[in-house]
Amino acid sequence: MDKKTALQRIQELRSKIAYHNRRYYQLDDPEIADAEYDELMQELVELERQYAEDIDISQSPSQRVGAPPLEKFEAATHFAPMLSLANGFSREDIIEFDDRLKRMSGSVVHISYVVEPKLDGVAVNLLYENGHFKTGATRGDGTVGENVTENLKTINSMPMKLNQGPGIPVPARIEVRGEVYIGIEPFRKLNRKRLQEGFALFANPRNAAAGSLRQLDSKITARRPLDIYCYAIGAVEALTFETHWEILETLKRWGFPVNPRAQCAPAIEDCIEYYLMIEKDRNTLPYEIDGIVIKVDSLALQSQLGTIARSPRWALACKFSATQATTVIRKIEVQVGRTGILTPVARMDPVQVGGVTVSRATLHNQDEIDRKNIREGDTVIIQRAGDVIPEVVKVIEACRTGNERRFAIPANCPACNSHVIRLTGEAAYRCVNLECPAQIKENIAHFSSRDAMDIDGLGEKLVAQMIDKKIIKDPADLYYLSLKTIAGLERMARKSAENLLESLEHSKKPGLERFIYALGIKRVGEQTAKILAGHFKTLDALMNADEEDLADIKGIGPRIAHSMVGFFSQPSNRHILQKLFDAGVVPLSASAGRESHLMPLRGKTFVLTGTLKNFTRDAATEIIESLGGHVTPSVTGNTDYIVAGTSPGSKLSKARTLNIAILDEDEFIRLIKH
Ligand code: IVH
Repeated sequence: MDKKTALQRIQELRSKIAYHNRRYYQLDDPEIADAEYDELMQELVELERQYAEDIDISQSPSQRVGAPPLEKFEAATHFAPMLSLANGFSREDIIEFDDRLKRMSGSVVHISYVVEPKLDGVAVNLLYENGHFKTGATRGDGTVGENVTENLKTINSMPMKLNQGPGIPVPARIEVRGEVYIGIEPFRKLNRKRLQEGFALFANPRNAAAGSLRQLDSKITARRPLDIYCYAIGAVEALTFETHWEILETLKRWGFPVNPRAQCAPAIEDCIEYYLMIEKDRNTLPYEIDGIVIKVDSLALQSQLGTIARSPRWALACKFSATQATTVIRKIEVQVGRTGILTPVARMDPVQVGGVTVSRATLHNQDEIDRKNIREGDTVIIQRAGDVIPEVVKVIEACRTGNERRFAIPANCPACNSHVIRLTGEAAYRCVNLECPAQIKENIAHFSSRDAMDIDGLGEKLVAQMIDKKIIKDPADLYYLSLKTIAGLERMARKSAENLLESLEHSKKPGLERFIYALGIKRVGEQTAKILAGHFKTLDALMNADEEDLADIKGIGPRIAHSMVGFFSQPSNRHILQKLFDAGVVPLSASAGRESHLMPLRGKTFVLTGTLKNFTRDAATEIIESLGGHVTPSVTGNTDYIVAGTSPGSKLSKARTLNIAILDEDEFIRLIKH
């Protein structure tokens, strides 16, 4: 590239980045995938480095963090600036980072680091004076952020007052830095609720967190499942630390949630190992991350290395492969679900997203399609969170050619051709024909699925074939199939037919909760089924309960109660249940059936350390044992989890060196509740 072109490109990149900064930081409505943004920034930084002599970089977005604050909030100036992080994308980048630091510090020995997951949320600065929370702000442009104090106060896990006690210092003033986020499950729940209530869905947990934290009315914020992890301090008075790890430990003692996956990495190889491990675990974490952060542990070395432009030299954000990607929607299809709901699904050109190939995305319902203005033929940004079906984040309208086709949910069910209706108060269209083959297929597939009756060898295609051939029309019919009938189906060998009969036989004594879940009653998921089974113990008792009995149970609302009673009062459902009983299907009562799913911690070894707030050691041990796990006094290679209360002992450091999963009290509670 010649100089003239390069300088032009720099201008172009700067204005593009400034535009995207505004979309992301101010409007919470990004137009490009994070990875694409990172690419633009990388290119700009590289060009500015090459042509440093010919340009003024002081006003470049490469020198700034985020965007200036929105006008609607009061401005809050941080005592110490909030910096951003330099990015890396691979193991090589990590090694280069370490080499660079060794070179710059003249260090001959290795450098020790602390490694942490990089949460994808909103950075905040929390100011505490004499141990009390005073104000809190977003990062803004790094110097001045938005004062969101009242909204931050709605986050339960954030301390209003620092813990005090012997050996715990309380500084006159301290800035604590952290990331406000929404976990994946709370995010899905929030979006499900918005879908039902007809509100626009949040594109991802980060946008939901940003949008919630920047509400002018903190009553709205209070209803959003915001959470926080703290990972650094800013300005602090009359208190010194020697290492970053010591800061994290102190933050914990003060009562801040600190990510339990943070750990010491004595050498760069440990950082690489951690990077690979967290990338592998990424889909199992309860929150979204986009990489890890590597920080020099020694604060003396940190200050020696210093800061350039927008980021400290002593830290690196090492990103994972993107969970967003750009592709083209070829066709929009309609699927009929178990309860008759018509869901539009996009068929797309296959793309790699977060390590898997994706070619379908849910479009939720017609309202969502209209709101996002999605058409067949559109180029779109799609995204995957955890291991769920990907979603379309947005259409890139600049790619339109004019040949895109609008889409409307058909007036008739694509499976049975009966007229579809839209119930009042619902965003979805439904096929209400109870004999609709698509619904029956979904229903039977659900009944036999792994978490329900667990009938091995009964795939979707096979179910579809049996329904199309009118061999079965409800789940109970499965138990009346003969070897001859099954073996007569297409692509069915005698051996597989025998196996299927055997798994059907095996499935006849399910735990009560599985059985309840398998029935596919509206609003009754696994969690609800568990509560009902635990409460009623037998199916009989459950079938005889009235709406009032049900609604009185903790965790069961009036809508579930209504749906349960409605289900059991319907003659066709009673008939199917009777057919199941006649075939020898008997759900085991909740207390009798100590099956493996009732003992979720079976085979897991726990070690307890420190003081727990909500349990004595004996009580915690009893709970773990009642769920099938056991507790041992010391940490060994066989330990699966260490539960760390306040002032944990040396067991915790041992667990860290052995890479054992560490749970703080809240996480332990979540685990046992789960
Ligand atoms: S440290 C000077 N640690 O990433 C270092 N940041 O791209 C300040 N982030 O603004 C940040 N997890 O919003 C740090 N464990 C972590 C982080 C983290 C997420 C975010 C934070 C920061 C951005 C930098």
